[in-house]
Amino acid sequence: MKTVRDIPVLENIPVLVRTAMNVPIERGEVANDYRLRRAIPTIKYLAERNARVVLVSHIGEQGTETLAPVAKALGKLVPRVSFFGETIGPRARQAVRDLPPSHILVLENLRRDRGEKMNDPAFARELAALADVFVQDSFDTCHRSHASIVGVPKLLPSYAGLQLEEEVRELGTARVPKSPSLAVIGGAKFETKEAVLTALLRSYDKVFVGGALADDFLKAEGKDVGKSLVSSVADPSAIQKLLKNPRLVLPVDSITNEGAIVDQGAGTDALLAELAAQAKTILWNGPLGKYEDGYSEGTDAFARAAAISRAHSVLGGGDTVAAVEKLGLLPKFSFVSTGGGAMIDFLTHGTLPGIEALD
Ligand code: 3PG
Repeated sequence: MKTVRDIPVLENIPVLVRTAMNVPIERGEVANDYRLRRAIPTIKYLAERNARVVLVSHIGEQGTETLAPVAKALGKLVPRVSFFGETIGPRARQAVRDLPPSHILVLENLRRDRGEKMNDPAFARELAALADVFVQDSFDTCHRSHASIVGVPKLLPSYAGLQLEEEVRELGTARVPKSPSLAVIGGAKFETKEAVLTALLRSYDKVFVGGALADDFLKAEGKDVGKSLVSSVADPSAIQKLLKNPRLVLPVDSITNEGAIVDQGAGTDALLAELAAQAKTILWNGPLGKYEDGYSEGTDAFARAAAISRAHSVLGGGDTVAAVEKLGLLPKFSFVSTGGGAMIDFLTHGTLPGIEALD
């Protein structure tokens, strides 16, 4: 994979960087700048070499949000950041032409244009017309076949950013863990996790399924899950097949509220703590209880267990990272992925559409 270090000339060159700036906004301000901090190495690398740095990203699912507060927050982390409220077209191109070397311009939310998600070739051409070189640094979105992910690399000399390079190296290593190894997959929606569970059960010694995802397995085992959230589209035969695998580990107890499972119990916390203490590799994606409703004990207990373990520990997923950050334990992990779905897909396939597109 060619990276920013391979770009032959940067002095005064407009470089379009697909950056991960999909961050939470509360009351008009960035509520968590973790992703922005992770975007800094590539931005600095380019700015310090006098490139004209043009950042594009999406924010939010639908394209209604603006990147204006994000540009403001970024400006607190690196100097010379400005924002232009359009993404493509003659005025955006002029704003790039006016940008002095080593300055950073944030353009408006890519998803304001329907062409982004549709991977419309005309929209990709407009994006490519903004710069001479393209850098992909938004690992979190590399599983999407959108214009800024797979369209633009067809049109410009394209390179991986430093963040993308690190994600590929670290998650590539996590796909071949040292034994004893423990993978912990939580969250919900079996249909989005089936492939990664199948892949991890081949390479990890123990694969623990937690969170709402576990309810599907417990139900398939014939246990009473009461009013718990279960995936309506989950294929029972696929779950039965995974259940036969001796490497699969499920919660042994749970906490219920009004007839629904809301968290794992103390016995499960202890079981996971023991597995974490023995492990040489720990991989974790997805909260272990109904974290969004305030049931954080199982997630917090495992965060502490993984943090004190001597294993090489890899963590990812927006809610999971936020939960561990809240406990101040992020520095205890060997690697923190900025991806959620992208991390899951990379672990499954060993590559992503946005990475393939750079070749
Ligand atoms: C993420 O937050 O997982 C990425 O930025 C991708 O966002 P999306 O799910 O809206 O495509």
